[in-house]
Order: sequence, then structure tokens, then C-alpha cells
Amino acid sequence: MTPHDPILCARNIGMIFPGGTIALDGVSVDVGPREFLVILGSSGAGKSTLLRMFNRLGTPTSGSIIFRGRDITHAGGGTLRDLRRQVGMVFQQFNLVGRLSVLENVLCGRLRNCTGLARWAGSHARWFSAADREAAMAALTQVGVAHLAGRRADALSGGQQQRVAIARTLAQAPSVVLADEPIASLDPKSAETVMDILRDIHIEKGLPVVANLHQVDVALRYATRIVGMRAGKIVFSAAPAELDASAIHLLYQGRRHVESAPEVVEPAA
Ligand SMILES: Nc1ncnc2c1ncn2[C@@H]1O[C@H](COP(=O)(O)OP(=O)(O)OP(=O)(O)O)[C@@H](O)[C@H]1O
Ligand SMILES: [Mg+2]
Repeated sequence: MTPHDPILCARNIGMIFPGGTIALDGVSVDVGPREFLVILGSSGAGKSTLLRMFNRLGTPTSGSIIFRGRDITHAGGGTLRDLRRQVGMVFQQFNLVGRLSVLENVLCGRLRNCTGLARWAGSHARWFSAADREAAMAALTQVGVAHLAGRRADALSGGQQQRVAIARTLAQAPSVVLADEPIASLDPKSAETVMDILRDIHIEKGLPVVANLHQVDVALRYATRIVGMRAGKIVFSAAPAELDASAIHLLYQGRRHVESAPEVVEPAA
């Protein structure tokens, strides 16, 4: 591995769900160490399925997933646990434990770094070391909600909850952050804050980010590369500047669920 090698690779992966839905159909994509990669595509294009393959929340029915040069397609046990620690995930619905405090939620991210007695102590007795608490507070500071550390998670706004969810991911010290529609449930102002935080993490911590989005304008603003999916295939992969009207048309033609897309100007006849 060199510092320039991709951190994650999907190699010709296919995913056919029981019942026959072909969610991914020969998808190959590399995630470079310096990329903020945005995946666009209409509903059902396969974006979430692809992201879930990257941290092995799902297993492809064909092809392979490579993480840092290692084939993890069928990894299990300790290897899978280690992969899940290194591949941080942020979800549309935040997935916080509502009755726990903000700090406790972020400490749950630290649990992924603990083994043996420390893991048991954290999960059963909610006992964490000073270093764990420090790391959790640093993560909360990074996303600007350290002042909310003692609040119950379910007493926060959606934007605040997503910031806590990002802090929880940061607390596990990941090598890459995956975000599945991280702003889909947020108002425009909170959405911008969350995207800015993801960009700060990308730049300041040097972490590659892969985000599924529905908002083309947001993708254009934040991505270093845009990958477009349609019906389980990658049909576009280029710098944001290359995403012209015909590419947008290719992604969304006849489809619903595109938000904030720039007006598509049909070529003159
Ligand atoms: N667990 C599952 N079982 C069966 N089919 C599934 C499952 N998960 C996803 N699919 C199907 O796979 C296809 C791709 O779904 P996926 O969720 O990856 O799309 P998406 O691009 O993330 O869509 P959206 O923008 O709506 O989130 C869809 O046809 C979907 O119905
Ligand atoms: Mg999805």
C-alpha cells in the first residue's frame, strides 16, 4: 500500500436480493485517499446498497470489496469488527440511542476501539477511561456540540443529532467516512452545517468521505468527484464540473426524487 492507493475498491460487484431484484450490476469504483466522493442517482439506483457493501453491512453476490488492499468480501469475526471500526458510517436517521446522553452516544463509538475488559466495562457498566472521554469530547468539539454533552439525545434537533452521530463516528477513529443521505431529514441550514462539518473532517483530518445524496447542487459544491448510478450501474464518474445537463438527464430521466437539480437545458434541436 502506498499513500496514493485507494482506500476502498468495489470490483465488479453484483447484488441480487432474494426475490430477484438486481440492486448492483457490475459496479467497479475506487475511493481514493483524498476524495470527497458523492454518489448521485434516483431512488432505487443502488446507492445505499453500494455503501452497505463498503462496510460489509451486506455481502455482494458477486465481485469483491477491497479495503486497504485486502479482500474483505467475505470477512467475518474479528476482521469484520475491525473493518466496521475503520469504516465509519453516518445514516439519514442518525441512529442515536435516544434515552442516552449525547456523550454516552459518542462513547458508544469508542466501544469499537475497545477490546476485552474495557469493552465489557463500557457496554455493561458504562465505564470509560479518561482517554475515551477525552476522545469523545474532542469529537463533540469538532462538530460544535460539546456544550450539549449532558443532554439526552432525543432532546436534540435533527441537525444537532446528526452532528452527534458524526462525532460518534469520529470517536471510533475511522480511516474513511461513509454517509448515506446525511442531510435528507434536515432543513437547508442544518444541511449546510452538516455538509460543512463533513468537508472540514475531510480536509482537516484528511479522511476520505463517500456520501450518497439526492441534492445535485450540494454534490456540485462539496464533491471532489461525482459518481452517478442508474439501475444498479455506474453511468457517470468525473469531477463535478463535468456533470452537465446531459449527464443529469442520464441520471434522472424519467425518474423521481431529484431535489434542487439545476434546470436541465435540453440541447437545441
Ligand atoms: N433488503 C432488500 N431486499 C430486497 N430488495 C432490496 C433490499 N434493499 C434494497 N433493495 C432493492 O435494491 C434496489 C436498490 O436499492 P437502494 O436502497 O440501494 O437504492 P438507493 O439508490 O439507495 O435509493 P434511495 O435513493 O431511495 O435511497 C431497489 O430496487 C430496492 O428496492
Ligand atoms: Mg438509499
